[in-house]
Amino acid sequence: MGKRSVSSFLILVVLCSALVAIVGGAYEDEGRRWETGGGAGAGGGEEGGAGMRQGQDQFLLQDSEYVVKTDAGDVRVVRGVGGRFIKSPLHIGFITMEPKSLFIPQYLDSSLVLFVRRGKAKIGHIYKDKLVEKKLETGDIYRIGAGFPFYINNTAEGQRLHIICSIDTSDSLGLQPFQSFYIGGGKYPVSVLSGFDRFTLSMALNVSIVEVEELLSRQMGGPIVFHNVSYSPRTKFLDLENYQKLAEMKRIVHIGKDSEEEEKKQPRWTLRKFLMTYIFGSENEEREDKRGSSDEPDPFNIYDRNPDFKNDYGWSIALDKSDYSPLDDSDLGIFLVNLSAGSMLAPHYNPTATEYGIVLKGTGTIQVVSPDGSLAMNAEVKEGDVFFIPRFFPFCQIASRTGPFEFFGFSSSARNNRPQFLAGDNSILKKLRGPELAKAFGLSEERLDEIVDARSGSTIFPPAIAAQPEAAKIIRTFGNDKITDFN
Ligand SMILES: *[C@@H]1O[C@H](CO)[C@@H](O)[C@H](O)[C@H]1NC(C)=O
Ligand SMILES: *[C@@H]1O[C@H](CO)[C@@H](O)[C@H](O)[C@H]1NC(C)=O
Ligand SMILES: *[C@@H]1O[C@H](CO)[C@@H](O)[C@H](O)[C@H]1NC(C)=O
Ligand SMILES: *[C@@H]1O[C@H](CO)[C@@H](O)[C@H](O)[C@H]1NC(C)=O
Repeated sequence: MGKRSVSSFLILVVLCSALVAIVGGAYEDEGRRWETGGGAGAGGGEEGGAGMRQGQDQFLLQDSEYVVKTDAGDVRVVRGVGGRFIKSPLHIGFITMEPKSLFIPQYLDSSLVLFVRRGKAKIGHIYKDKLVEKKLETGDIYRIGAGFPFYINNTAEGQRLHIICSIDTSDSLGLQPFQSFYIGGGKYPVSVLSGFDRFTLSMALNVSIVEVEELLSRQMGGPIVFHNVSYSPRTKFLDLENYQKLAEMKRIVHIGKDSEEEEKKQPRWTLRKFLMTYIFGSENEEREDKRGSSDEPDPFNIYDRNPDFKNDYGWSIALDKSDYSPLDDSDLGIFLVNLSAGSMLAPHYNPTATEYGIVLKGTGTIQVVSPDGSLAMNAEVKEGDVFFIPRFFPFCQIASRTGPFEFFGFSSSARNNRPQFLAGDNSILKKLRGPELAKAFGLSEERLDEIVDARSGSTIFPPAIAAQPEAAKIIRTFGNDKITDFN
């Protein structure tokens, strides 16, 4: 077991280091830059010493790609680490939507956990055969299951919408980072309905082939469109000529509703629901469903919650399924950490989870250690960078001295992860202290105690006293084996 897992970690490290392609992507928001790629993490090794420069940014996920890009918005995905030993990597998605834009109804082969980084949105999705609509705002967390149609409307006045999401690929078809199936669509994107031949569709919808053509030919604006978009230069969507046909279609689409039997047999969302809600707008009674049952999930605002840990140097929040049950369905946890300038999140490792972090604000350093006790990564990260911490690998984050360092992330387990700390009051060094550990370090118990007790406090530590030249000298000397007895 031990041997096998060690070798799989090594393979994982190799996989990680294969992720070195750098794709830049930048967007502006209210004067603030949100950037990725472009050499993130490079040059992070000033303190690393000689011989540690190789692969210092191997757990930075810099390989970002646009999967959607229109005038009204885009979706950028940073792929997680996959391969034989991680069956379903988590990808991280960045959705940006311009003011007054709509992400048209679609379903995916992946489930999403959304985090509204900034802005306001109305999200509609099918939950237990009903359309559920929720207003989301900054800090909200919300889940959308794989295969369930949803849309996102940027409802804020004149404000861009930024969403960070986890893309859980455990149900993935494995074609793309994720695969979209657009419900509504036309020339671009193409609706999944288009795949059927026109006659079949005409029969299925009980409309003429001309009407089928009309239904599936207007949309050209891409997956994210402006509210004011006009689909066709030829005719307005609801001109008089078409109005009667549409009224007729609307009536037909309603037919299912008259028959309670049919209602139960087929999931209502398949076609009717989205014709109703997407094409025909909101003036019909179907929409009342959204205020229906109380078992539908509500968003969870992470900023409303009191930190799980807080001291003078920062705070952290960790959410698991006991805090927000939809996380259980994705088997994900969520964390948010804010370190004040120069502070450190104590070295620790995750016994049950792999972490994907996204830097929200500020800059900092992340160190990750390999099982063989070598430094696997020592990278400087900045806003927008995505990093990956393999399960079991010890790591720590240190805010730069220029300001607070805030990062958010997903951990691959909805169970309480119980991070194991390697320093501070709650450290495993303190828990394991005794003759055995002293022996392991080759120190007397008293000496070990002195060292282990030197750090009081836990979890988040204050900035180090400015490095003294003396310290550097000692490290150099120690490195040259001139000091052999620490006593
Ligand atoms: C999206 O929201 C805006 C503002 O709330 C609203 O005016 C618009 O009609 C909505 N668009 C759609 C397609 O639902
Ligand atoms: C199909 O549409 C016609 C009118 O175009 C209507 O008379 C008929 O009842 C519809 N059939 C069904 C099954 O909805
Ligand atoms: C629609 O709105 C966008 C941004 O709000 C604007 O740039 C564009 O010119 C508008 N298009 C039309 C056809 O009004
Ligand atoms: C993070 O901490 C800094 C102070 O260290 C504070 O100014 C900032 O508002 C905090 N950020 C959040 C999101 O609370």
